Amino acid sequence: MGMPDRARYEKAGTEAAVAAGALLMKRFRTKLTVTHKGVIDLVTEVDLAAEALIVSALQREFPGCAVLAEEGHTGAARGPVTWIIDPLDGTTNYAHGLPFFSVSIGLEVDGELEFGVVHIPALEEVFTAHRGLGARLNGVQVRVSCTSSLSASLLTTGFPYDIRTSRETNLEYFAEFSRRSFAVRRAGSAAMDFCYVAAGRYDGFWEIKLNPWDCAAGYLMVREAGGRVTNFRGQAGSIYDRECLATNGLIHDAMLNILCQPGAAAADPQ
Ligand code: IPD
Ligand code: CA
Ligand code: CA
Repeated sequence: MGMPDRARYEKAGTEAAVAAGALLMKRFRTKLTVTHKGVIDLVTEVDLAAEALIVSALQREFPGCAVLAEEGHTGAARGPVTWIIDPLDGTTNYAHGLPFFSVSIGLEVDGELEFGVVHIPALEEVFTAHRGLGARLNGVQVRVSCTSSLSASLLTTGFPYDIRTSRETNLEYFAEFSRRSFAVRRAGSAAMDFCYVAAGRYDGFWEIKLNPWDCAAGYLMVREAGGRVTNFRGQAGSIYDRECLATNGLIHDAMLNILCQPGAAAADPQ
């Protein structure tokens, strides 16, 4: 008898992420061809090469699987087994020689997140999660933090690429959380932000206008580490939503209170 599906998913997903990470590291801090998808939205030749590598490895192992990947690979339409891939999350950091970038691969089976892996190659970290089996960092189980007050919480966020042209910028929330929390970070890789909530390094992460490939592995990571992921109305989050709140659970309602009333975010705290 062959390997059970769970083990096959983990082996193929993790191997693909690690191989893509090696490719990223080989070209890290070298001269790259950079193309602009938007004024501040970059893509490098390495994003494309990493995506091609991951997609071909997964399709070899799971012929006929569906693929949703940032740089344009959309294999068979969404099917019972769908791999959701960001080959390089944190492209701006990567292109500037900063080590905060990751490879994110999530797996949906029959519409449910089943497995996720996020590899942060410059920091030698591999996060994995299986539905119902917890989340791990380099093979060791991780848990969300137990910080229970917003005031003591270290938060993280990011900003959308249309920040120059859209009215929905996340800047009001950023200002409000900066006043109400211990501090707010903005590292530049959403997949990494989710994992660091899962590992208890950050207490909470919110962002708007994320894409499914930023979220697929990360949502599962946080949930399997005992955290909570919702939209800004507190409903169970979907990776296809455009807003996301992922926390240790304990500060979730306090963060929702701010996120669900954008008007209030402009007011001065007492
Ligand atoms: C971006 C990063 C960033 C987040 C952006 C994402 P990319 O992904 O995750 O942290 O703030 O919203 O688009 O473009 O580097 O793959
Ligand atoms: Ca991304
Ligand atoms: Ca990307």
